[in-house]
Amino acid sequence: MNKIAVYPGSFDPITNGHLDVIERSCKIFDKVIVAVLENPEKKAPLFTIDERVELIKKSTKGMANVEVASFKGLLINFMKKRDANIIIKGLRAVSDFDYEFQMALLNHKLDPNIDTLFMMTNSKYSYLSSSAVKQVAMYGGCIKELVPDVIIEDIINKIKVLKNKI
Ligand code: PNS
Repeated sequence: MNKIAVYPGSFDPITNGHLDVIERSCKIFDKVIVAVLENPEKKAPLFTIDERVELIKKSTKGMANVEVASFKGLLINFMKKRDANIIIKGLRAVSDFDYEFQMALLNHKLDPNIDTLFMMTNSKYSYLSSSAVKQVAMYGGCIKELVPDVIIEDIINKIKVLKNKI
């Protein structure tokens, strides 16, 4: 049986912390589907869903057992369609735990076939989040080593476009 895991998130944009979790998960599972949530409630995302999917594809190029997709609605429904029963979540600090614990229990309650596996973040990236990357980039700080090198230019260009609109 193929072990398929789903790594869900907003990924606006993908960071080196996310990439580290993807790389480590690939060694455990036959296939890892990185699933970007189309969330209309998230206000003012920097990148569109299609752009986020492209940035993840660029960042995971050459990783044979990674697939990138987007989904709407409940994660468990997406997982059922993809025949996956493991959710991977990265844990950075204790502050992540309450929310993640609640989501893991809720998803398991909604579908008892589904379990969540938590992967401790690499300590190098424990301070890192997509929001922090956006803030640093917005104010002209250096985002090298925070996000995959191949997407640095995309982020800088996107911020330039955004600033020209303001
Ligand atoms: O990167 P994020 O924003 O922390 O990711 C949150 C995500 C996408 C994992 C979570 O919001 C999610 O799974 N949403 C889908 C809706 C859903 O299934 N909700 C029920 C469980 S909380």
